[in-house]
Amino acid sequence: MAIRTIRVEDDPILRKVSRPVIRFDESLHSLLNDMEETMRNAYGVGLAAPQIGILKRLFIIDIGEGLVEFINPIIISEDDEQLGDEGCLSLPGRFGEVKRPLTVTIKAQDRFGQYFELTKSELFARAICHENDHLDGTIFSDLVIGDLQYNHEGDE
Ligand code: NI
Repeated sequence: MAIRTIRVEDDPILRKVSRPVIRFDESLHSLLNDMEETMRNAYGVGLAAPQIGILKRLFIIDIGEGLVEFINPIIISEDDEQLGDEGCLSLPGRFGEVKRPLTVTIKAQDRFGQYFELTKSELFARAICHENDHLDGTIFSDLVIGDLQYNHEGDE
């Protein structure tokens, strides 16, 4: 495994639309392993492939319940709303309030290409929406209600 460089700030790759994953092979597995190491090294709860410069439709999340890998994800339903603060490893030191669905159901593939469906609420649902947005070049700062806040204590 290796720690990859996280793209930050105005890096144009963060604004691109990612492409579907076609091959579920060793190189995908090593990319996913590197993403996990990179996310944990940065104390993040989620990381999308474009954040390390790879324009593929996949992200990983671990909000403390164990790692889940989402490949070619599609959010198939959203329910209710939640309002809360969000940050991003690509915008170090900033956070802001974003409205998200309270509950989402997502369909995706695992690292072997097997399809699965998950329904998650609250923080996990927020993380899914945030990471999924990265695959289409959207960053949470685009969605912040009011002003983006600066955290001078450190990142996240
Ligand atoms: Ni992010």
